[in-house]
Amino acid sequence: MIICSCANINDRKVKQALACGARTLSDVQAELGVAMGCGSCRDAVQDEISRHYGGAAGVAPAYSGELAPSV
Ligand code: FES
Repeated sequence: MIICSCANINDRKVKQALACGARTLSDVQAELGVAMGCGSCRDAVQDEISRHYGGAAGVAPAYSGELAPSV
């Protein structure tokens, strides 16, 4: 399935870039040239990145507001 029609890049190529170490949207942009034209594929590329890294790529978990229980 084509993800970026501007750069003619499909999901397989994005997955390959991720398997080869790309971790961020910037990494995938640099590797494949996606999301550098109209930008409409940006969310789809970000979704692939999140799926590949289990939704936690480069994002620290949000602080829950709860302190760790004292022992
Ligand atoms: S569809 Fe990817 S930049 Fe336009």
